[in-house]
Amino acid sequence: MAAEKYAPVITLDGPGGAGKGTVSMLLAKQLGWHLLDSGALYRLVGLAAEHHGVALDNEASLAVLAEHLDVQFLVSKDELVQVILEGEDVSQELRTERVGGLASQVAPLPAVRQALLARQRAFNEEPGLICDGRDMGTVVFPDAPLKIYLTATADERARRREQQLREKGITASLADLKKDILERDARDMNRETAPLRPAEDAVEVDSTTLSITEVVDLILAEAKSRGLISQASSA
Ligand code: DC
Repeated sequence: MAAEKYAPVITLDGPGGAGKGTVSMLLAKQLGWHLLDSGALYRLVGLAAEHHGVALDNEASLAVLAEHLDVQFLVSKDELVQVILEGEDVSQELRTERVGGLASQVAPLPAVRQALLARQRAFNEEPGLICDGRDMGTVVFPDAPLKIYLTATADERARRREQQLREKGITASLADLKKDILERDARDMNRETAPLRPAEDAVEVDSTTLSITEVVDLILAEAKSRGLISQASSA
């Protein structure tokens, strides 16, 4: 049997609000690699469950939904990804706190995680893949040649979130945001299946005092030093 060939993978795991989404998107764009936003898949399962009236504790039915998700990721001219679920553009709705809440209820269920495994691995195509999540380096791509664990303090993540909301005209208290962040961290880290933790061979990057550009450059330098990318592609 011929050995399967894999394109290079860079995994980014870490708690919510550490900057993984923005950093992953910039890395994928700069390298011309594919991008897997695995959180979007859990959000889609939550949304599909709502559309089909499936209870969020009905693990078997949720796993069937996850396995058969009718979803397309379209890259538009301005390079934003449009997410189409069952023919409907759900890109905006997917990012809401409400759908984040649905996702956090379906994500701990082992059968749902199992059902999404093959779909996530199928993103691994040439010339390479950047993937963002909680268990990319520990479960989904355990052989990835570069694994990053991106963190920032809860205070800093709350501050960034408050700023994002303020830009949208929404006022929120820093103390409430920090409380939410700590609760989500605890849920992600303490669940039984695929808990959030750094892979043993992960490079830990604390983004608390770094700009997005500094984080991207640091990861590109790591990728270059491991021979995953050429000098030219990280210029
Ligand atoms: O990163 P995000 O906010 O889009 O993630 C949504 C939810 O899915 C959040 O509760 C964490 C969970 N998640 C997960 O369990 N495993 C992943 N690989 C990605 C996200």
